[in-house]
Amino acid sequence: MTMDKMAEDDLTDQAVSRLGATPDPRLREVMCALVRHLHSFAKQVRLTDREWLAGIRFLTAAGHITDDTRQEFILLSDTLGLSSLVDLINHSDVESLATEPTILGPFYVPGSPDRDFGASMVEYDDGGRPALLKGTVRDENGQPIPGARLDVWQNAATGFYAVQQPGLQPPTNLRGVYRTDEHGRYEIRTVRPVPYPIPADGPVGRLLADTGRHPWRAAHIHARVSAPGFEPLTTHVFDRDSQYLDSDSVFGVKESLIRDFVPGEDGVLHCESDFVLCRTGQSAASV
Ligand code: BEZ
Ligand code: FE
Repeated sequence: MTMDKMAEDDLTDQAVSRLGATPDPRLREVMCALVRHLHSFAKQVRLTDREWLAGIRFLTAAGHITDDTRQEFILLSDTLGLSSLVDLINHSDVESLATEPTILGPFYVPGSPDRDFGASMVEYDDGGRPALLKGTVRDENGQPIPGARLDVWQNAATGFYAVQQPGLQPPTNLRGVYRTDEHGRYEIRTVRPVPYPIPADGPVGRLLADTGRHPWRAAHIHARVSAPGFEPLTTHVFDRDSQYLDSDSVFGVKESLIRDFVPGEDGVLHCESDFVLCRTGQSAASV
């Protein structure tokens, strides 16, 4: 090893050992690993002064554009695959029969209106293709769960969520809270979701462009499904005919979540999607 490499490694060791007195053991573990990985990254790529400063400027710009409705740091995490990785680590269990989870995204708004079985969540007609999303919420043994809650949201035919177009779309357009009936079934009248670009007018959008990536997400409907005694599930229903299933900008697509939207004789697209919840205390995340 050269003297330079020894000095570099010595500095890394010093920075890590400086954290040795951190009282909270978990904070100590996380911070020591973070510093080690950050240092190895800088050493591996031989990070230049200019590149270090570009990184600082990038993070500063991300901070400047972030406010109550725009979270550029989460977008960065999403586009680097970190959000989906954390989701996998915490909420996926290969042995589980439960529906696979995927990321929440920034367009979830709590407090959606309660809607009746089969009611429409379309409050503003912008030409979207009428669709009926329906299915059964079950436990891992296949037993239906009556009274399960489905909090659902999606974008309009223009590609935008209601929260992105205040003053144009009604604030509760294309979102609603539904309940399963006594057979565990739910039905939601809506429109077909469309692919859309994640917000790309900030530093994350520039980084995507600089790395030759597109900002598009495959068409999907979001759902948070919950019932007493079961782990809450945050997931999507993806449209099999959508573009970008193979290159979703935030790595949210899972094969098991892709569904067909089939034209019915009633002129409506029919999409069937069951959701399977696992009982509290039985998921990998909870042991
Ligand atoms: C979404 O699906 O709503 C979403 C997820 C991550 C980033 C941007 C949008
Ligand atoms: Fe979305």
